[in-house]
Amino acid sequence: MNRIGILTSGGDAPGMNAAIRALVLTASQHNLEVVGFSHGFNGIFNREYRTLTNSDVLHIIHLGGTILKSARCAKLQLPDGPMLAAEVLHELQIDALIVIGGDGSFRGCMALSQYYRGQLLGLPGTIDNDVDGTDFTIGFATAVDTALDALDKIRDTADAFERTFLVEVMGRHTGYLALAAGIASAAEQIICPEYGEINIADLALDIKRYQQSYGKGSYIIVMAESMYAYGAFTLAQALSSQSGTECRAVVLGHLQRGGSPVGADRILATKLAAYAVEQLLAGRAHLMMAGEQAGHLGLYPLATTGEKHKKADSYLLAWQQTTLQQ
Ligand code: F6P
Repeated sequence: MNRIGILTSGGDAPGMNAAIRALVLTASQHNLEVVGFSHGFNGIFNREYRTLTNSDVLHIIHLGGTILKSARCAKLQLPDGPMLAAEVLHELQIDALIVIGGDGSFRGCMALSQYYRGQLLGLPGTIDNDVDGTDFTIGFATAVDTALDALDKIRDTADAFERTFLVEVMGRHTGYLALAAGIASAAEQIICPEYGEINIADLALDIKRYQQSYGKGSYIIVMAESMYAYGAFTLAQALSSQSGTECRAVVLGHLQRGGSPVGADRILATKLAAYAVEQLLAGRAHLMMAGEQAGHLGLYPLATTGEKHKKADSYLLAWQQTTLQQ
């Protein structure tokens, strides 16, 4: 093996640069050339790529976003997309392609594998943590801290005004981020898929009950983005009218994707990237994702990373429900 391609795909996540850095440094130690494609898989179709050397990855470990840029790629989903992408990779003599992204990006890898003759390997990079085969994805720890920073600030103003706040966090269809940020911010309620559908009447009753027990005070609800079809602002209005208290909505949105990665993300990214290159060289990594489970590095089939077998922390889910929720 002489030449590997790398790209970042889908929602960017803090720590992607740390992964790029470790891929380049480890590859160069093994005399492999690294070609970085820009804008996700689009960089393959558009032949937008550059060779990455150690000097290209100097002092990027602390940067959010991705120096390669990221994007979703419509072309790869067209019937002839995977074949065309594979042709470019063959022409550029890319022996292996490493994709840093989430399960959507890994589905792209699976499609490509029908035509591409090199090895394909994934690194889990998404703030959602919704990838099987790894306890944590690169970017999740930072997103939790970013949401937490916002939630702590919301608590200050909520306390001062004795208000209820409904704070929507990202997570696509899962509640990992909502649960983690909700627990760490001592939210009075967490609304996430793991607890089932929202019952607005029960929620309004709980706000009233809480205020009767503790006197008027702040009440924070952390909600995963997938939980209410009409949006957080509409739900806040419904809660205001049904509970008789003032409920404000805050949607944290894309700010959760940015920022300097926390130490845990930098370390995870470095470890998984170095391991990925070593496994590629050993010939074990084709159609696998590098992940870490219970403290052990391992390879997990790319094809099954999106099956959603990974469970949110059941201990914390139960604790929150029995201790704070009715
Ligand atoms: O997958 C990461 C993520 O930020 C999700 O949490 C969110 O649902 C989605 O991407 C938003 O995507 P976009 O940036 O395309 O709006």
